[in-house]
Amino acid sequence: MPLKASVFIATSLDGFIAREDGGLDWLMGATESADDHGYAGFMAGVDTLVMGRGTFDKVMTFGQWPYPDTRVVVVSNSLQQLPASAPEHVELHPGPIPELLEHLQATGAKSLYLDGGKLIQGFLREGRVNELTITRIPVLLGQGIPLFGELAKDVLLQHMKTTSYESGFVQSTYRVVR
Ligand SMILES: NC(=O)c1ccc[n+]([C@@H]2O[C@H](COP(=O)([O-])OP(=O)(O)OC[C@H]3O[C@@H](n4cnc5c(N)ncnc54)[C@H](OP(=O)(O)O)[C@@H]3O)[C@@H](O)[C@H]2O)c1
Repeated sequence: MPLKASVFIATSLDGFIAREDGGLDWLMGATESADDHGYAGFMAGVDTLVMGRGTFDKVMTFGQWPYPDTRVVVVSNSLQQLPASAPEHVELHPGPIPELLEHLQATGAKSLYLDGGKLIQGFLREGRVNELTITRIPVLLGQGIPLFGELAKDVLLQHMKTTSYESGFVQSTYRVVR
């Protein structure tokens, strides 16, 4: 069975996933509601979290590793090894994406959670994203790290559903049309 690759990410209304310096204060404050906005349900459906090195660096500043029960693969071309402070079960892969996918499939992955702007952009360019769930936070940042970037050709999407939460978050799921 082919690997399924899904994105589950929060953006400002103007499309940024973090401030220029990686800051997530605008998101952390906003997510302090009791509702997890579908996160646990999404996590239950994936077996492997593939994250860019930029996202990994940020997660390492959280103090506590938030994914104790999920296989995590950090993708980096520059890192030779993960820092000693990284949890033991976290893996490192140099890419590129076709080799990464081959490795993940050969090692039992079936359903991927893609995290990190540049990582997601690479997967989109390779035509290897199946589904995107984007939660728009009602804030305009004006500048920051964008979720989307350049593409060689259009990526057609089929809208699956949109949920509007009491928190003001608006979450839309799209399937990538092949
Ligand atoms: N709002 C949200 O929900 C959300 C979610 C996730 C992340 N974030 C934030 O977004 C920021 C990071 O995003 P980002 O776009 O800057 O970076 P990113 O995608 O997390 O990481 C980029 C790095 O990952 C590696 N990489 C990505 N694709 C690769 C490929 N195909 N092959 C080899 N290496 C690859 C490269 O590392 P090397 O340079 O080491 O080669 C690249 O520089 C952080 O501040 C994070 O907190 C926000």
